Amino acid sequence: MDRWIGKVAIVTGASSGIGATAVQALARAGMIVAGLARRTERVEELKKHLPPEAANRVHAIRCDVTSEESIVNAFGTVDRQLGGVDVLINNAGVSKLTCTLLTPGNGEDLRTVMDTNVMGLVLCSREAFQSMKRRQVAGHIVNINSILGHKYIGFPNLNIYGASKYAVTAITETLRNDLRNEGTKVKSISPGIVRTEMVPEGKQFENTPMLEADDIVGAILYALGTPPHVQVHEVIIKPVGELA
Ligand SMILES: NC(=O)c1ccc[n+]([C@@H]2O[C@H](COP(=O)([O-])OP(=O)(O)OC[C@H]3O[C@@H](n4cnc5c(N)ncnc54)[C@H](OP(=O)(O)O)[C@@H]3O)[C@@H](O)[C@H]2O)c1
Repeated sequence: MDRWIGKVAIVTGASSGIGATAVQALARAGMIVAGLARRTERVEELKKHLPPEAANRVHAIRCDVTSEESIVNAFGTVDRQLGGVDVLINNAGVSKLTCTLLTPGNGEDLRTVMDTNVMGLVLCSREAFQSMKRRQVAGHIVNINSILGHKYIGFPNLNIYGASKYAVTAITETLRNDLRNEGTKVKSISPGIVRTEMVPEGKQFENTPMLEADDIVGAILYALGTPPHVQVHEVIIKPVGELA
């Protein structure tokens, strides 16, 4: 990770779970980290768990990834205040376990999932690449995908979430093709179930083996640490004992 010391990472969905853990790990590794989320107060809170010099490298920036204007503004702020982005961790994501694809009145929930998990990721990638290109930086884009982006699992009420993650798989391939002569790398990291706020509490998951956010962040650090000619393409991570 030494070559990333002093470089700038943007982490979307920085207020919770995998994103919050990534912010802390990247700041500890010496990166300047812009943590994007709607709940910026939670990103500010993360600083309390870091040594002062790492905490000083964390910048909380409000961004709603379902809004193109909000994304453009947040990336503009990073360009102006931090000099531009070198690494993008496309992590913001939601599931809405409230309905099936066929439930009446489900349009808003389904659109929120697609706008966050698909359009948000695409527009953040666009803004990051434009910043990298302007500054002639060979950067990294890390897409936090899911095992559900590679296989259908019949979990109740996952509705359009699996489709959104299959889209991330296809988008990663498209970006890799678009970027193949640009020096910037793109990769997909696909976890099985991870113990975060996204997973509903209760008996349903009582005996389910789960990954921790740290396990996923370990894979992010590994992928970032590879030499410039090495493209980590896809990392699938499952908890030992996972059924599916
Ligand atoms: N947990 C799992 O089992 C699991 C498994 C595979 C993949 N994943 C993927 O891992 C990623 C992180 O999820 P997590 O498990 O860490 O969930 P989490 O703890 O619920 O965190 C989700 C993050 O996404 C952000 N977010 C949601 N909607 C947003 C919006 N409109 N604009 C900006 N930020 C938004 C949230 O921030 P604000 O609400 O503050 O904006 C929050 O920081 C997601 O892409 C998820 O699909 C999770």
